[in-house]
Amino acid sequence: MFEEKGVNKILYGGDYNPEQWDEETRDEDMVLLPKAGVDIVTLNVFSWAKLQPAEKVYDFSDLDSIVKKVTAAGMKICMGTATAAYPAWMAKKYPDILRVDFEGRKLKFGKRHNACPNSPTYRKFSPHLARKLAEHYKNQDNIVIWHINNEYGGSCYCENCEKAFREWLKNKYKTLDALNDAWNTPFWSHTFYDWDEIVLPNALTEYQYGSKKSQLPGISLDYMRFNSDSILQNYIDERDAIRSEIPDALCTTNMMNAFKGLDYRKWAKEIDIASWDNYPQRFTEPHYDAFAHELIRGLKGGKPFMLMEQSPSVTNWLPINSLKRPGEMRRYSYVAAAHGADTIMFFQMRQAPASAEMYHGAIIDHSGRDDTRIFKEISALGEELKALKDNTLGGKAHAECAIIFDWDNWWALEDTPGIPDTVKYLDEVLKYYRALYESSISVDIIGSEDDLSKYKLVIAPTYYMVCENTVKRFEEYVEKGGNLIFTFISGYVDENGHILRGGYPGTLKKLIGARIEETDQLYENMESFECEGVRIPEKIVESHNSFKYKGTEYPAHIVCDIVYPEEAEALAGFMSDFYKGQPAITKNCLGKGCTYYVATSSEARFYAEFIADICDYAGIKDVFDKAPVPVNSWNGIEIAARDKGDIRIYYIINHTNEEKELEFPYEGEELLSQEKVIKGQKLKLSPVDVKLIKVASRD
Ligand code: GLA
Ligand code: ZN
Repeated sequence: MFEEKGVNKILYGGDYNPEQWDEETRDEDMVLLPKAGVDIVTLNVFSWAKLQPAEKVYDFSDLDSIVKKVTAAGMKICMGTATAAYPAWMAKKYPDILRVDFEGRKLKFGKRHNACPNSPTYRKFSPHLARKLAEHYKNQDNIVIWHINNEYGGSCYCENCEKAFREWLKNKYKTLDALNDAWNTPFWSHTFYDWDEIVLPNALTEYQYGSKKSQLPGISLDYMRFNSDSILQNYIDERDAIRSEIPDALCTTNMMNAFKGLDYRKWAKEIDIASWDNYPQRFTEPHYDAFAHELIRGLKGGKPFMLMEQSPSVTNWLPINSLKRPGEMRRYSYVAAAHGADTIMFFQMRQAPASAEMYHGAIIDHSGRDDTRIFKEISALGEELKALKDNTLGGKAHAECAIIFDWDNWWALEDTPGIPDTVKYLDEVLKYYRALYESSISVDIIGSEDDLSKYKLVIAPTYYMVCENTVKRFEEYVEKGGNLIFTFISGYVDENGHILRGGYPGTLKKLIGARIEETDQLYENMESFECEGVRIPEKIVESHNSFKYKGTEYPAHIVCDIVYPEEAEALAGFMSDFYKGQPAITKNCLGKGCTYYVATSSEARFYAEFIADICDYAGIKDVFDKAPVPVNSWNGIEIAARDKGDIRIYYIINHTNEEKELEFPYEGEELLSQEKVIKGQKLKLSPVDVKLIKVASRD
């Protein structure tokens, strides 16, 4: 990704905040960091107050001195724009920069990631600083990429945002009639006769009793879109300011996993190289970690991305922050690489001397030593990455299967009253992803608008919101031989959140070949709660339903759609209640392909079985070119692959603390040990170990 900048290995390093340190410490770092194998540092992420001590004063002298040292030490730079935390004087002089929270409270100066995205002050000063930085450092050749802001997020409900929201709505709907229609405002007398009557949806307006569900879903859905767009505009402001000085500057911002607040798919169009921050904890399951990498990879059509941050050891922001065990930092690093990362970067280089993150892990800890466990593990990985050279760079996954993940759908599904709180979009997506991951099947995570034609199977979990245009593309895809899976509560509403006429699953009916009349929402192990005067008892343990698929009984959780097949055939039926015998899974063929509908949510062993069947039917192979078999109990060995031309690199990762063995089906070379691998060789994997095997031909 940075070949033009002379980079021919996985870049290794990360956030370096020397503003906090004296010259002597900085000089020590210039020796210690290269010693650990660090060859890139991210600078200037939070230095705004230093760079601009007063409105008309810019002072880059300290940053200049840091840049000079880093350059002399031979390191590359990922240059921050410092706009994720504004100076205190700015908040005092221009309070429009302060956000108003969901409860309607005007915030004061404090924390970070705190600017109102529609503040005229922020929109003036942040691109101005970015432009000044670009102007100042445009000839600094070791800057490989610009890191704009930091982990954008949050929302604001101030008057400037309210005004901007009205403009955004005018631009989208043109007339109030169109807006009233889109939000179905005759309901509860919400008809708007003037744009200025529209107010932002928050706790003071459409959300009552602490509920997360809006009483006017249309406005809330548009607010989510608007807020994401507003913050994206902040990114664009800075990016364009940088480009005005350096027309070919690469720009990114560090994303955060499946982050609900921002439509990353839309953001990705404005970003040159996707990057993200990965903070798995001891309870993070391996498939979830892999999914997150693949989600980010999918944002830029499968191109390699940057792992911008991870902790070398411990985080500091959870009530309990556990250590990464020996070998785990290395393993997480290769998991990222396995799924498309071409940089391995950390927060942070040196542990802070005080403040909120002083106990967060770093390569150099408070002792300043180079013989700590962490320093030694970091250095060892640094050596390994040097030896790997450019072997893994640029490789892409070859996936025959895709899962659709859409932000609009996420917002509409979870924020609309009547859809049970127990429906969690991400969880449903992960259930399908896990079955594929544990079977070592490559998957792309895509958006509804992405090209489907290269996939043999596309899975669209809880595909609640459907656009006219998408349906046509889905139908074409299936008619030409594609296979589609939809799951419960799919095909309910259009892009405005309006019910699709003619009953569920709306415009997906031709594909699914069945109608859904009712949906039974299941109480399962729910804690007691009270809502609008109705009290749900202490704990309801109502048995879930179940269904039989190929002779085996599986639990039905969360909801059961009551499905009436028309053209479709039933593959499984519910086993109890008044809809006993009604299908839990259907299959409907159209042209050369088929659509499956799974009317409920179940558990891992069902997905393992079902996905293996569908993949077999669709002709999908695992990364070893074998037809998948159901994985009912995963052995903890992750196998992923990246292709570069005819060369394939296999990443074999032991997620257990046990010795494992794996028969490798091809001839190749293990890149970390540089040992030959013979076809059929039984590879020994020590606990938490990783092997990278380069294979030239898979005959
Ligand atoms: C985030 C931020 C960093 C730092 C780390 C700590 O990813 O981007 O500035 O706060 O978390 O884990
Ligand atoms: Zn605001």
